[in-house]
This record gives sequence, C-alpha cells and structure tokens, in this order.
Amino acid sequence: MKTIAITTEFNVFDAPTDLPAPVQELMGKAVEARKNAYAPYSQFRVGVALLLDNGEIITGSNQENAAYPSGLCAERVAIFYAGAKYPQAKIMQMAITAASDTNQTTAPIPPCGSCRQSIAEYEIKQEVPIEIYFMGEIGAVYQSDSLKNLLPFMFDKKFL
Ligand code: THU
Repeated sequence: MKTIAITTEFNVFDAPTDLPAPVQELMGKAVEARKNAYAPYSQFRVGVALLLDNGEIITGSNQENAAYPSGLCAERVAIFYAGAKYPQAKIMQMAITAASDTNQTTAPIPPCGSCRQSIAEYEIKQEVPIEIYFMGEIGAVYQSDSLKNLLPFMFDKKFL
C-alpha cells in the first residue's frame, strides 16, 4: 500500500479592498448580481461575475424552485449563459459572493461540488485556466489560479 497526497493552494486577501482594482470591480458586479437571486426557500443569495476574453462580463445568481432540485446555483447560471451566448469565448476570471438573509456570512464561500464539476468542464474545454475568487458577504477573499485547486482528482473526458 502507498499513499498519494494531493496538495492544493489558495491565496488569501483579507478584504475585497485588498484585491487589484479590476478584480474589485468584478467582485462588485457579483455583489450586484447577488441582489437578483431568487432564493425564497433558502434565503441564501449567491452572485457571480465572469470576465470573458472578449471583454464581456456575464453575471448570474441562484434561481430556486418549489421543486428544490429544479433550481440552479449562481455559478452554473453564469457559466451556462456565457457558454450559450459566447460559445467561442474563454472565461478568464470568476468572482463569487454569497450572503444569507438570516446571518452575515464572513467566511469565504466556495462553489458546491456540482458547480466545481461544471466549471471544470469549461476550463478543460477552453484549455486556459479560470482564475477564481470567492468570498462571503464580508471578510476575506480566497483566490485560485485554476479550478483544479478546488477539485483535485477531477473526473473529466480523458476517463471516458
Ligand atoms: N448555491 C449556489 O448558488 N452556489 C453554490 O455553489 C452553493 C449553493 C445556492 C443554491 C441554493 O439556491 C442556495 O444557494 C442554498 O443552497
């Protein structure tokens, strides 16, 4: 028996004001998008802003449904919209923020497993890493140069 260790790393910004100005702006768009969340069941609002290589910014927010699994996370709303509207464009950066109506989120809130898998698909398709920033409502922002840090040992098309 042997053990395989996979390491992953993130950069930490103590506050959004520590981010480079263009990223602060992108996170600002994610905060705006968060306000458009349709979250009557969870009261948990997630906003996402994507910077594409064509200069466009695409935003998304979570959209819930009375039949719970029919709703969709903000990250997938945004990346699927980007894929549908600009199929040739590459996603360069992704900013994510999540806030609850019932308690203030201060820890960085990462994308869920299904969203990581979906983001991975686009990163592999475009052959360029997606830089990801995520935060709660206030507080630190975590940054990764690639989705790979969020999904080590990922399943992808090479296994098919
Ligand atoms: N949610 C997202 O939008 N992104 C995630 O990565 C995690 C969860 C949404 C789904 C649901 O509307 C609410 O947050 C609570 O899970």
